[in-house]
Order: sequence, then C-alpha cells, then structure tokens
Amino acid sequence: MKILFYDAKSYDLESFSGTLPGFPEIEIEYTKSDLDPRTAALADGFDAVCAFVSSDVSARTLTILHEKGIGLILMRCAGYNNVDLDVAKKYDIRVMRVPGYSPEAVAEHAMALCLACNRRLYKAYNKVRENDFSLSGLMGFNLHEKTAGIIGTGKIGAAMCRICRGFGMKILAYDVYPNESLKDFVEYVPLERLLSDSDVISLHCPLMDSTYHMINIDTIRQMKDGVILVNTSRGALVKTDDLIEGIRMHKFAGVGLDVYEEETNNVFEDRSDEILEHSTTARLLSFPNVMITSHQGFFTREALSAIASTTLQNAMAFLQGRSSGNEVTA
Ligand code: NAI
Repeated sequence: MKILFYDAKSYDLESFSGTLPGFPEIEIEYTKSDLDPRTAALADGFDAVCAFVSSDVSARTLTILHEKGIGLILMRCAGYNNVDLDVAKKYDIRVMRVPGYSPEAVAEHAMALCLACNRRLYKAYNKVRENDFSLSGLMGFNLHEKTAGIIGTGKIGAAMCRICRGFGMKILAYDVYPNESLKDFVEYVPLERLLSDSDVISLHCPLMDSTYHMINIDTIRQMKDGVILVNTSRGALVKTDDLIEGIRMHKFAGVGLDVYEEETNNVFEDRSDEILEHSTTARLLSFPNVMITSHQGFFTREALSAIASTTLQNAMAFLQGRSSGNEVTA
C-alpha cells in the first residue's frame, strides 16, 4: 500500500520512519506540500493520503483525490472539521483519524499557557534578559482555591480537569455529555454559570456548527473581570473580533491561544505587511496580556510516536478490509 504523506516536517519523518519497520506492507512517500486542490493531483499512483489539521480536504480536493483513485484519507490528528465528510462519503473515500494520541500533551500545554499568562512569564523572561529585575507588571493570582471552568470534558478536557485538581482548584464543567469518570471532583453546570463563576476558562470541545464562535461578545460579557481564557481546541470556537473587543474592555487578565481563526490561511508563513496589517491574529499579538503559540499542544515525543503508530494501524485496517474504531463518517 502506497501512502502520500502531505505537509511532511522533519519531526514527522522521524516519528513515522521510526514506526514504519513494524508495517512492511506500507510504503510512504513524503511531500512538503500541504494537501489542497492544487496539490491533490500529486496523489496519482497512491492508494491513500496522509493529511493534517492544516490540510484543505474540501469538496474540490476530494474530487481530485477520487479521480486519482484514492480510497483512504489518514488524518494524523484528532480533529477532522477540515474534511468534507459528505463528499468523501459520496466518493466512497474512507476517512480515519487518531482520536486520542496523548490528551495529556494538549492539556499540559493548556495549563502552561494559563500559567504563562497568569504569572506574565513571557514579560518576566524578556525583562530579566534586559537586566530589568523589577517586579512591576508581573503580579498574578494563586490558582489554588480558584475556579477552573472546563468547556468540553472528553479526553483532553478530562486531563485538564485532573491537572486543575492537582493545583487545588474548584472545577466547573460544561459538556453536552458529562464524563462519568470525573463526577467525584467536577461539578457540571450550565454554560452561563461556568462563564460567570470561573477564574480560568479552558476550551476543549470540538469545532462544530453548535460550537462555532461560542466565545463571542455576549459570552465574554458574562465572564468575570480578570478571567484567564485558554483555547487549545480550535480557533473558530472564539470570535476573534469580539475577543479583541473583550480585551479592550479589560475583561481578561490573560488570553492564551494555541489555535486561532486564521491558522489555515498561512497568515504567518506569508509575512507580507499587507496581510499582517489586516490579520486579526497580528492585532491580538499587539496586546501585552495575550500569548499565542503555533498549534503545538500535541507536540511532544510521546504524542508524535502514538500518532505514527495509530495512523499506520488505521492504514492496516483499511488494507485488510477491517473496520476501524477510528473511522469518521458523515
Ligand atoms: P473528545 O471527543 O474526547 O472530547 C470532546 C468533548 O466535547 C466531548 O466530551 C463532547 O461531548 C464535548 N462537546 C461536544 N459538543 C459540545 C458543546 N456544544 N459544548 C460543550 N462540549 C461539547 O475530544 P478531545 O480528544 O478531548 O479533543 C478536543 C479538541 O481538542 C479536538 O476537537 C481538537 O479540536 C482539539 N485538539 C487540539 C490539539 C492541539 O494541538 N492544540 C491536538 C488535539 C486536539
């Protein structure tokens, strides 16, 4: 089975080539191009493609992949909101993903963003490097005995709840399906109560029609003044223009984002002044209490190795005509 691996980075090559010897039936060719309608034709002669959160797996791309005889899309990530599942189904292209490679990797990064914002670590780091050892502008608050509001308590949200418990926080959660394993230390409440009572709010639900822009000016207004907002889930859960308005209203002690709405537009790969000038992400970065990282929540050694091995197991399930619990359908 031949797989074309799109948007291959050096760390992907390392983790996949380390895992591949256990799968002699599979051959992988890597390309640095990401999957989109312009690059889909590269898949000619392959059986499957391997794509990522940044890939454009829209109807146009799928039509070309179908013409090239592709029967399987291996998403090497948990989220699949960038795949047009209806069109994939129409062409009988199966889509598999890696649902829970290392929830702790993302949850630990969410807490890292929370702590960095709360204790102004980015500012402290730069000040000390410039020989300024004063404490002005660095005051934070204890997380101990404060309230964490966790929106979405699946694998990553549950890991975040456990981390917050370790900090001695009270934990409120909102989810359409409460997680039984958390019932001893997490209180499920309506979203309105979570917003109004939390000192730290962390987003861990998937991007869907029902969660698109769930953080907007109305929900921001319901939050406590001085709240810390963390988003490691998907950029479009937050309406960026409204977030900027909230920051201007001094609603937030800090905002930590690993994901942002413009992520897929390659805003920061094409650094033209014009693009940066109109970029809401660049506007966000101009605020001193905002910290943005570049979708690195998943980026740990353990997670990359788990991604490689589940992706190749998914490919084997397809090859052997087995069903896979990791398949996503319309
Ligand atoms: P999961 O599927 O285990 O959990 C998602 C939870 O959200 C479920 O409990 C579900 O019931 C809940 N949910 C669904 N709709 C909701 C709504 N309207 N309101 C509140 N909760 C709702 O997913 P997992 O593995 O915990 O991942 C969560 C998200 O994290 C993914 O969808 C993905 O967008 C993001 N992610 C980010 C990564 C990064 O590197 N920053 C890496 C991996 C995932």
